[in-house]
Amino acid sequence: MSKFFLDHQDNYQNNYQSCHNSQSWQKLEQLASQPWSLSQLFLQDVNENQPNTQSFRQARQQNFVINELGVYFDYSKQLVNNQVVDSLLALADDQHLKKQIDALLQGKKVNNSENREALHTALRLPKQSVLMVDGNDVVADVHQSLEQTKKIVNRIRGGIWRGYSGKAITDVINLGVGGSDLGPLMITSALDEWADTDICVHFVSNMDGSQLEGLLKKLNPESSLFIIASKSFGTLDTLSNAKTALAWLCQFAPKTTVLHRHFISVSANVQKATKWGIYPENQLKIWDWVGGRFSLWSAIGLAVAIRIGMDSFYQLLAGAHAMDEHFANTDFRQNMPVMMGLIGVWNSTFLKINAHTVLPYDGRLKFLPSYLTQLEMESNGKSVTKKGEVVNYDTCPILWGEVGSNAQHAFYQLLHQGTQKVSCDFIACVERYKNSNGRHASVDVKQTNKANHSQTLQQQHWLSLANCLAQSRVLAFGNQASDEAKNNSSQNQLSQNKPSIDDRFKNYHGNQPSTTILLDALTPYSLGSLIALYEHKVFVMASIWGINPFDQWGVEMGKKVADEVYDCFDANINNDDLNFSFDASTNQLLKHIMQNQYASEQNNK
Ligand code: F6P
Repeated sequence: MSKFFLDHQDNYQNNYQSCHNSQSWQKLEQLASQPWSLSQLFLQDVNENQPNTQSFRQARQQNFVINELGVYFDYSKQLVNNQVVDSLLALADDQHLKKQIDALLQGKKVNNSENREALHTALRLPKQSVLMVDGNDVVADVHQSLEQTKKIVNRIRGGIWRGYSGKAITDVINLGVGGSDLGPLMITSALDEWADTDICVHFVSNMDGSQLEGLLKKLNPESSLFIIASKSFGTLDTLSNAKTALAWLCQFAPKTTVLHRHFISVSANVQKATKWGIYPENQLKIWDWVGGRFSLWSAIGLAVAIRIGMDSFYQLLAGAHAMDEHFANTDFRQNMPVMMGLIGVWNSTFLKINAHTVLPYDGRLKFLPSYLTQLEMESNGKSVTKKGEVVNYDTCPILWGEVGSNAQHAFYQLLHQGTQKVSCDFIACVERYKNSNGRHASVDVKQTNKANHSQTLQQQHWLSLANCLAQSRVLAFGNQASDEAKNNSSQNQLSQNKPSIDDRFKNYHGNQPSTTILLDALTPYSLGSLIALYEHKVFVMASIWGINPFDQWGVEMGKKVADEVYDCFDANINNDDLNFSFDASTNQLLKHIMQNQYASEQNNK
C-alpha cells in the first residue's frame, strides 16, 4: 500500500483487526513474496506433468479453465499454480464467501451503510420464482414493471406512441449518467445487430450540454422522445439536460403536450418525477434496492428494449440469470465469478498489481471498458471495511480499457515495455459473421457479391482473434513468444554477450498476467451472462476485502462543493469586487473565469 494511504491511515484510530490475519491470508502473502514467472510456470507444468506417472494431473491450460454457459474462461496465463488456487479457496472459506453469496441472493441487507438489499439478481429471476423481502414478493413487482415496460416499448415500436403533431417516434434519447447511461449504452451498441426497428436510440450524459446541443440540431422535435433515466431524479447532469430538452421542445408545442407526448421517466423517486411534470402513465418505477450501476436489467434498460425488442431483452435477462445460478450453485473451483474475483484479489492485494485493463477484441464491445470502470471502481474503490475499519491492503486496481486492436496502437507499448505491472482481460467471440438468421447481413450488397463480402469480414474476424491470442502470448512470455527474439537472447546467453543497445530497445519482458474470455458468440443471452459474471466478480472481491460494494459515498462531497462553487457564479456575475472563501487556488481560478467572462461580455456590448 502506498505511503499516502499509510499516512492517511494514521489519521484514524486504526482499530483494524480482522481475519486477514488468517492462515490463508498469511500463506498467500508468503506465496506472493516468491518470484513469479509465467514462462517458468508453463515450463514446470510440462516437466512435472508426465503422463502415466503418479504426479500426472491436468496441465494448466486445462486445469485453469472453466467452460460453462457458452463462456470459455481461461486463467492459465495468470501468475498462479495449484498452491495459490488452493490458498485462495481457503481464503474464500475463511471469509465465509458462500454465506455472503447466499445473503446477496436471498435479499439480505448486504448494503449495510444504506441499510438495504442489493437485489439486481431479482431483476432477472423468472416469473414463476418467489423472493420474499420484508413480506413482499419482489419478483411479482419486477414482472409487473417488465409488463409495463413492454407496453410502452410496443407502443413506441409499433408507431402507436405519437409526438405533438401526430407523427410516430423516430428517435429516442436517453438522458442519464453513470449507471443510468453506461450499461444501456454499452448493450445497445453491442447488440445493434439485434435491432429490428428503424427507431434510433441516442445517449446523452454530459453535464456541459455538448452532446445534447449537437444532437438537437439533427433531431426532428415532432418525432423525438426523451427518457429521463435517473434512479434518484436528483442528478444535476441529467436534470440540466432534461431542462434543455424541454425548453427546446417548448419552442414547438405547448408544455403540457410536450410533457405528455415527449417525456418518459425511469426513477425510484416518483415524487420528484411527478413534480418535474412527468405524467403518471409515462413513469416507470425502479426500486431503492437496485444499485445505479447494477440497474440496466430494470426499466433503466428501456432504451435497450426499444432498440432490440422485448424478446431479446428477456434473453439478456435469461443469460444473466443463468450466470446467477452458476454463481449460486457451482463448486468454487469451477465457479467462474468466484475464480475471477479471487484471481483479482491475488493480483491486486497480494502481487500488488494495481492496474487492470479490459481489452475486447470485438468492436461491438467498445463501451464495455467504460461500463466496467464504473462497475468495478465505484463499487470497490474503498479503503474502509463494512465495519468502518481502515484497510491495510490494496483493494480495487485502477481499471481502464479499449477495443484491443485499437489499444495495440495506443497504450500497449506500456504493457509490453513499461515499468508498471498490469493485469489484463482479453475478451473475444469465437463465431462471427456466420449467422444464418440474416441479422448480420445488414449491408446492402448484390447477392453475387455477398459471398465475397462475408468472406472478407470473416477474415477480419480471424485477424482480430489472431491478434488477441498473439498479444496475450507476448504479454505473458515476452521474448520467448517469438522465435527471432528467443534466438537472439539465447545466443547472447551462450556467448555471454551483453545484450546490445538494439537488443535492449527490442526487449519484451513479458510476465504480464491475463485472463482470456471467449464467448461462443455475441448474443443477448451471452452478453447477459458476461455482464453478470463481472457483477459477481466485483461482489466476490468486495466480500474477501470485507468492504461494501453497493454504496458510493466517495462521489457525494464533489456534488456538494460544486453547488457551493456554482452559487458564486450566480451571485457574482456582475460584481467587480470578487471575494471568495475557498482555498487560494480555487479563489484565483474563479476570479480568472469571472473576470474573463465579464470582459468578454463588455466587449460584446
Ligand atoms: O454520482 C454517482 C451516481 O450516483 C452513480 O452511482 C449513479 O449511477 C449515477 O450517479 C446516476 O445516478 P441517478 O441514476 O440517480 O441519476
